[in-house]
Amino acid sequence: MRVAVTLVTPTLALLSAANVRAQSIQDALRPAGIQASHIGDLWNLTLGLCTLVFIAVLAMFLWAVWRAPRSGAATPPDTSSITVPERRIHRGVLWSVVLATVGLFVLLIADVRTSRALAGLPLSDAVHIDLIGHQWWWEVRYTDPQPSRMFTTANELHIPVGRPVIISLQSNDVIHTLWVPNLHGKKDLIPGRTALIQLRADRPGAYRGQCAEFCGLEHALMAMLVTAQPPNEYEAWAEAQRQPAPQPSGQLEMRGLQVFQSTTCVMCHAIQGTSANARTGPDLTHLASRQTIAAGSLPNTRGHLAAWILDPQKSKPGVNMPATPLSPADLQALLAYLETLK
Ligand code: CUA
Repeated sequence: MRVAVTLVTPTLALLSAANVRAQSIQDALRPAGIQASHIGDLWNLTLGLCTLVFIAVLAMFLWAVWRAPRSGAATPPDTSSITVPERRIHRGVLWSVVLATVGLFVLLIADVRTSRALAGLPLSDAVHIDLIGHQWWWEVRYTDPQPSRMFTTANELHIPVGRPVIISLQSNDVIHTLWVPNLHGKKDLIPGRTALIQLRADRPGAYRGQCAEFCGLEHALMAMLVTAQPPNEYEAWAEAQRQPAPQPSGQLEMRGLQVFQSTTCVMCHAIQGTSANARTGPDLTHLASRQTIAAGSLPNTRGHLAAWILDPQKSKPGVNMPATPLSPADLQALLAYLETLK
């Protein structure tokens, strides 16, 4: 049994890694934007240079082992190569030092060039987003000079392909780190500070981001999906997000809204267009339009949503959302209402 587990577990891990790789939604080696391309180029250069050094060191080591003085049962070892100084060994060491210094300078220059390229992204007509880290979810505010065009969402970013995005990073509690490897490197969200990250997606697709700084119990379940879409699709999405939640039409959905407003839900969540406007938890105005719940840790399906509402600790131990015990009828009504929040 133990042998089976020992064999099966790494196999499953490899298969799941291969699956993620095939989808390439969280992969620094498959850049989907210019910033990630710059970082990818630097990585390829570093990997190439370090591979050359590794092969050279290994070759020297094998050569040294091959020519090391050996003795037989009756013969003493020939140690002349150790005792008699060899000029070519001195030359070899000298050249190794020179080459290592040149190699390090090549990496240093490439690093500075990459930093300059990252800072040189043209930012005209940029989309501005405030991203606020919470234990353990992402608050996303799309800002705009016109207040009526601002809106708030959570745990999912939508960005237009080909247009720069300036994300202002803040934290509500501890240090988090934004990392969407297909689009850019890592940047910290530090309490009391504001950091900026500029990126641009050049290929449409869905890319997975992950908090990359240990921030407490559920750090590993603090993910975010970034959807890069053609500008017209993005505008349509943003316009839909600016709308308040639709008024429930059916009896069941109206009962669901009442349940929402009369239980603990309303103390933490906002739904624009209703009296719920708390900011402790994610804004749920367009919850049904999202692909995941619980910061990327569960698919947004009716079953998962029900389990999440009734006992969030089971899906995400340590989460700050309290359990909401509801009668089956109330739960069904609430789910029916939440599903209207497209
Ligand atoms: Cu947030 Cu780790």
